[in-house]
Amino acid sequence: MRYGHFDEDKNEYVIDRVDLPTSWTNYLGVEEMCAVVNHTAGGYLFYRSPEYHRITRFRGNSIPMDRPGDYIYIRDNEDGDYFSISWQPVGKPLDEAKYTTRHGMSITTYECEYRGICASEKLCIPIGDKALIWDVVITNKSDRTRNLSVFSYAEFSFHHVPIDNQNFQMSLYCAGSEYNDGIILYDLFYEEGGYQYFTSDFEPDGFECVRDAFIGTYNTESNPVSVERGRLSGSFEKGGNHCASLQKNLELKSGESVRLIYFLGEGGYDEARAIREKYKDPAKLDEAYDRLRKFWRDKQSRFAVHSPEKGIDTMINTWTLYQAEINVMFSRFASFIEVGGRTGLGYRDTAQDAMTVIATNPAGCKKRIVELLRALTSRGYGIHLFEPRWFLPDEEKENKKKPFKSPTVIPEPPESSKVHGLADACSDDALWLVPSIVEYVKETGDVHFLEENYGYADGGSGSVYEHMKKIILFSLKEVGDNGICKGLRADWNDCLNLGGGESALVSFLLYRALIALRETADYVGDNTFSAEIAEEIEEETKKLNDILWDGDWYLRGFTGSGRKIGTKENKEGQIHLESNAWAVLSGAADNERAKKALDSIHDRLATPYGIMLNAPAFTEPDDEVGFVTRVYPGLKENGSIFSHPNPWVWSAECRMGNGDRAFEYYRSLCPYYQNDEIETRWAEPYSYCQFISGRDHTTYGRAHHPFMTGSGGWAYFAVTHYLIGIRPGFDELIIDPCIPGKWDGFEVTRSFRGAIYKIRVSNPDQVQTGVKQVLIDGQKVGDGDLSGQKKGTAYGERKIGRIPVFGSGEVHYVEVILG
Ligand code: GLC
Repeated sequence: MRYGHFDEDKNEYVIDRVDLPTSWTNYLGVEEMCAVVNHTAGGYLFYRSPEYHRITRFRGNSIPMDRPGDYIYIRDNEDGDYFSISWQPVGKPLDEAKYTTRHGMSITTYECEYRGICASEKLCIPIGDKALIWDVVITNKSDRTRNLSVFSYAEFSFHHVPIDNQNFQMSLYCAGSEYNDGIILYDLFYEEGGYQYFTSDFEPDGFECVRDAFIGTYNTESNPVSVERGRLSGSFEKGGNHCASLQKNLELKSGESVRLIYFLGEGGYDEARAIREKYKDPAKLDEAYDRLRKFWRDKQSRFAVHSPEKGIDTMINTWTLYQAEINVMFSRFASFIEVGGRTGLGYRDTAQDAMTVIATNPAGCKKRIVELLRALTSRGYGIHLFEPRWFLPDEEKENKKKPFKSPTVIPEPPESSKVHGLADACSDDALWLVPSIVEYVKETGDVHFLEENYGYADGGSGSVYEHMKKIILFSLKEVGDNGICKGLRADWNDCLNLGGGESALVSFLLYRALIALRETADYVGDNTFSAEIAEEIEEETKKLNDILWDGDWYLRGFTGSGRKIGTKENKEGQIHLESNAWAVLSGAADNERAKKALDSIHDRLATPYGIMLNAPAFTEPDDEVGFVTRVYPGLKENGSIFSHPNPWVWSAECRMGNGDRAFEYYRSLCPYYQNDEIETRWAEPYSYCQFISGRDHTTYGRAHHPFMTGSGGWAYFAVTHYLIGIRPGFDELIIDPCIPGKWDGFEVTRSFRGAIYKIRVSNPDQVQTGVKQVLIDGQKVGDGDLSGQKKGTAYGERKIGRIPVFGSGEVHYVEVILG
């Protein structure tokens, strides 16, 4: 069953059946303000921090599932009938009213047609503004003049999410509202500068600042008493709950249209007046849309693929790029699942995100990498969850206003608790950062970055290169009795706590980091260190293969008491995705074992909806293995199709040259291909979700937790770098596609260090991998550029294309023939 379609020309997903089984969301804003909105205008707004600086309220995990939001009610004053431009909250029967929602890149539009009135409400946060703009157009399509009243409604939140949800004895008496000069001012009295405003580009005919005056006792957003009555009462108050409602009365002749613009922003009267002035001419708002479109078009143009599969083109060129970028911007801060309360950066999540969109957002990725470098301890482990501002150098701190200062309400954590000890360290966190830094240098060519100096979280400082060494040394030292890296509090799998045991995944991640660091050492001419790492790599290769091979796949680790996890000998959790994917992708497994491990994943973990994390799922609590054994089978980390590590397997398959299988996996997880199976999937088909219920669960195939997941970034990275196979080297662009044999080829436009590469790959022999010939600007490139993979960096001797770095601004045509 389908509820909508992809509009490729407009880069929008169009929902034409709005009675969805769950919320389908979008993210507005590309700087510091963000609105999470769904298909019926439910959602919330925050500035910088959804936890400490929430602007509008959201009743998470509630019924109905998506209240309140950014609502516009239209009332026909002839008979008092009213509706909302978004289907909810009024919820007119769908056979009487027609509703459409368009989620686009940083713009969402609600459209409706009801009894001869056509209306639309377009939401966006323009670049450079700290305001959510509601752009409303109402057209009278009926053949008579209509007498209408239009009401806006948003509910303000107390800024700090915990005090917005519990113990109101303080907050209820600290928030106030007032109205002057067409502006509703919301004031958090206890907070210095804690103002928000709501205003419009027209002179209102009425206002309501007090929430309960707007809604009425025992009414809801579906039938607010003030809309029923057709008149706002002009309420405002010191204390209580507040809202933003402005009334406009209209007489619309047949065929006539009106455009009303509303501004919900950060700041007081001055800011409200300034933005009203800025958009006095609505054409300025149209320019703001163009700037947002250009912002995304620029990114899209840096890697644009045209392949035989629309599910690759539409997702990679638009939606997966968008999801990955949003995660770099807003990490895992805000969704309808994470309703604030998770501000700050998760070390491992951010370290992975920062690697995924360097080509389209080098500055944003570098910023994240620097924040992570500063949150690394001098011992070499990362602070698992941190606020970047904690670790800013003093000179930068002064200029940064804290998002919130109120010691009585939200105490700032003491300095001593910001840097946690080893007991709270996760074993994988910082290991992700090493390859991300290398990727950054390769993509940008900014090798001097390695010499930049950054502080450690617990004092002292060192170059980026030194930070990288510390990370490696920490993991080399923190090993258990078997010589495998300790699991510590957890590894990538939050629920595998290993009770003091060892993690195969972390050892493979260390292996990958060692390879990346060695490559870097070679590049910068640090020969002594490179030789040392080479020895380490050799030892690790032997050790990991001796200890972790289980016959048909690799173990997942050992418990604190030395029991194996992820072995045939176990009844439950026999095989796990993560260690096997990384055994191959890191390069630690030889060809034969890599093939066996990947075949085992295929036989035991693959499903039509993607690859499960482990099987059989755990059913018996076992605290030595961890919390994973207490999660219901088929959900979350216990045997679900956890999306984030799926692209690890696609990448590993590509490394082995199996394009057919890599694409089969891509297709099974890809939301695009589930557009017509929403009765199973439930969630939106334009974003990857954190997990899909696995085989052992009654909701098998249902997707949960959209947008805020590392899967967007990893899917983007795996497809661009391994499947389409265009990835940066230190001094070259590597072309190494691994595609389904039946593809005739594909085309890519790729920006690299300022030059544009127009690449056409043809596949006359229907192979999955291997570059036979490369022509640049019509000239055949000599054999030297067609040499086989460097030993130790990939499997097999398949040939790859090596394209030189060209001057910024140049355009070059690259023909690649596979065979
Ligand atoms: C969540 C966490 C991530 C973790 C994953 C698996 O997505 O954000 O850090 O790696 O779950 O447990």
